[in-house]
Amino acid sequence: MSDSPDVLDLTGTVQDFLTSMHAAGPVRQVRLPNGVPVWMVTRHAEVREALNDPRLSNRDQHDWFDQGALSPQVRSAMNTSMLRIDPPDHTRLRRLVAKAFVPRRIEALRPRVEHLSGDLLDRLAAGADEADLIAGYASPLPVQVISELLGVPVEDRANFRRWADAFSAGLGAPVFPVREVTDFVAHLQGLVARRRVDPDDALLSALIAARDQADRLTEDELISTAFLFVVAGHETTTNLIGNGLYLLLRTPELADHIRAHPEDLPQAIEEFLRYESPVTGAALRTVTTAMNLFGTEVAAGDLVMVSLHAANRDGAAFADADRFLMNRERNPHLSFGYGIHFCMGAPLARMEAQVAIGDFLARFPQARLAVDADAIEWHPGLLTRGLAALPVRLAG
Ligand code: HEM
Repeated sequence: MSDSPDVLDLTGTVQDFLTSMHAAGPVRQVRLPNGVPVWMVTRHAEVREALNDPRLSNRDQHDWFDQGALSPQVRSAMNTSMLRIDPPDHTRLRRLVAKAFVPRRIEALRPRVEHLSGDLLDRLAAGADEADLIAGYASPLPVQVISELLGVPVEDRANFRRWADAFSAGLGAPVFPVREVTDFVAHLQGLVARRRVDPDDALLSALIAARDQADRLTEDELISTAFLFVVAGHETTTNLIGNGLYLLLRTPELADHIRAHPEDLPQAIEEFLRYESPVTGAALRTVTTAMNLFGTEVAAGDLVMVSLHAANRDGAAFADADRFLMNRERNPHLSFGYGIHFCMGAPLARMEAQVAIGDFLARFPQARLAVDADAIEWHPGLLTRGLAALPVRLAG
């Protein structure tokens, strides 16, 4: 790699960022905010190809976010999930986890999600007319859902959320939150130990029991899978709900359309996913052998960042890519990834978003943004995109 690639600017407007990315060709060299250089892939066709290329590995083999500061035990208990390994181990682990994470477990959650959402809406209705929908709704709902799904006790949930948020915000940042991640892993180890002797009917106990003939999850795989579910299961979905509500409230006619035609909400959610991708980048991949990456020679050990958000705004894949079109007919967005690591939680995330957005619109027909749409702030994040706050006036 050359010595001075551009520093990846996470504070500029998305439009500037995407325009410069697409203009630079299919691969561009950038530096993460912590100084680590990466090759960034930005176009829809190449992003799909990269996510299918076995020469790009998901394994934890590069210290790009300062994990060296973690103890080897913590690092391995955090990095042995299906997202951090390659086939054949990935195939084996994903199959074992899929055995516990069955569709009926997700569908059975819908009434519970409706109930949790109703409680949060009651609290909003009982409070002040102006409310922050991220803190009061889009964030607590997915945290409660993923905690109930896994079997995380109520008293642990605030800490789990704090630790998972610190981990996501620390990816590629100048300072990695070693203490928080160490505490998070230690707590998960304690929880798994408790569930071994005292199982419940939630997912963590099912993962402990999951077996495929003689095969089962190792201790590190169990902790890492729980870590992945907590991290992957809440901020991502918070961003989808928050970004979706923002896009609707910014254009009240769209919100009114969904109120009158709730059957159009699932299609609108696909466009929220495309237009303001809640997860902007896939997990970083490591090049395993010197290769030509879409016209650029890259070396073994180099890092590749695959921009799902840039791919989702690629004019070669989407007509009017920079316009939000709620009834877009063809929408092959890549917001849940592509290939063997395609998001396992996609059906759950879609269901949560349908409930959260649909119920909010029905409950507060007069809701309006409380600030100018352009004054809304996004929180910084290398691989995620969501609002820091979403102030609304509930009675309009
Ligand atoms: C809107 C919400 C969500 C978005 C946008 C999202 C996005 C993604 C993406 C892009 C990947 C692939 C990453 C890569 O290839 O590097 C992924 C993987 C994954 N996601 Fe999600 N996710 C969401 C919600 C969830 C939820 C709710 C769960 C769990 C309950 C979940 C569990 C997973 C798991 C386990 C993987 C790893 C799959 C594998 O490596 O085979 N996700 N997700």
